[in-house]
Amino acid sequence: MLYSQGFRTAEKLASKVVPLFKLCSEQLSSQSHYEFGLRALKYVLVSAGFVKRDRIQEVKRIKRENGEEVNEAAIAESLPEQEILIQSIMETMLPKLVAEDIPLLHSLLSDVFPNICFRQEKMESLRKEIKEVCKEMFLVYGEDGETGSAWVDKVIQLYQVSLINHGLMMVGPSGSGKSMAWKVLLKALERLEGIEGVSYIIDPKAVTKEQLYGTLDPNTREW
Ligand SMILES: Nc1ncnc2c1ncn2[C@@H]1O[C@H](COP(=O)(O)OP(=O)(O)OP(=O)(O)O)[C@@H](O)[C@H]1O
Ligand SMILES: [Mg+2]
Repeated sequence: MLYSQGFRTAEKLASKVVPLFKLCSEQLSSQSHYEFGLRALKYVLVSAGFVKRDRIQEVKRIKRENGEEVNEAAIAESLPEQEILIQSIMETMLPKLVAEDIPLLHSLLSDVFPNICFRQEKMESLRKEIKEVCKEMFLVYGEDGETGSAWVDKVIQLYQVSLINHGLMMVGPSGSGKSMAWKVLLKALERLEGIEGVSYIIDPKAVTKEQLYGTLDPNTREW
């Protein structure tokens, strides 16, 4: 799968990422929503492909701006693949972890990938909009006002998770700011992208699964 996502050092990466998943399932706390099987692994690898292609585009754009010659194969060759894989692991696995497991994942990562630091996506423009929306809704953005709070990090994670999934679930104690997080994100994205964001609230117990998703007509095979 790594090869098909354009990774050249796939064998080397595979020999690290598989043990990492094993360690995660052995050492992280046990939570009903945790899963470190093939499904989670596939998700990390596919998202690593997205990260790599994004980086290629970024390098291409910079080279074009500087009037340099653009050679996609050479750019792909030069990218740090371990770092890309770590970025993908952080973006896909970290949002699912409970707070106590976050330092543990960091230490497992540095065991499996020693001496490799990863670049965190800063998302400055999105953070700026979130800050504005918070101000208008009288919400607390962060103590020092610049980087924002742990809640803002969750809003950013929600955005990253929504990019690579059709559906997602927010889990946490009542009053921890889950509803506010998606409302603020929707507003902030609306401003950032200039496209209206619409939300619908449906009580899952009020309609049947068939009413919610539709059904296949067995005679016509139509949805
Ligand atoms: N960043 C913030 N700054 C200030 N207040 C906040 C912030 N985020 C949430 N709150 C407030 O905390 C309260 C609870 O937030 P919210 O309704 O989002 O929690 P929830 O996780 O959705 O809870 P539930 O599980 O009960 O639905 C609300 O009154 C909300 O206004
Ligand atoms: Mg809520």
